[in-house]
Amino acid sequence: MILKKNILILFLFFYLFGISHGDELFEKGKEIFLNDGNCASCHSLADAKSIATIGPNLDEIRPSLEKVLVTVTNGIGVMPAYQDILTKEEIEAVAHYVSKASN
Ligand code: HEC
Repeated sequence: MILKKNILILFLFFYLFGISHGDELFEKGKEIFLNDGNCASCHSLADAKSIATIGPNLDEIRPSLEKVLVTVTNGIGVMPAYQDILTKEEIEAVAHYVSKASN
């Protein structure tokens, strides 16, 4: 009985840890979207309250995590490549944020 309870608490711990960890990445990505990444100056995204129209509206194209990763790393058209501007971790954070906020 006591063992069962401990296992439950353990699961609860990992569950909560998982959620807070996910939110942390989301918040970090949002910060990059608005500041270091400068994405908000070209893209509309409701969650970030950005209304720029140079690039496609991210709420409409709803890109997957992989698509944002590839696009941000390599650039596309007039959009710059970020592989020398942001770290790999920062690109992953902003990709997590954009795919989650728009889908
Ligand atoms: C200088 C303006 C500019 C900035 C800054 C910019 N983008 Fe873009 N982005 C564009 C344009 C323009 C396109 C469309 C390019 C094309 O299709 O030729 C685009 C396309 C995209 C696409 C769609 C790619 C596809 O394959 O359809 C995604 C996703 C994206 N941008 C995310 C981001 C993120 C995230 C950031 C910040 C790290 C960012 N952009 C910064 C202008 C910009």
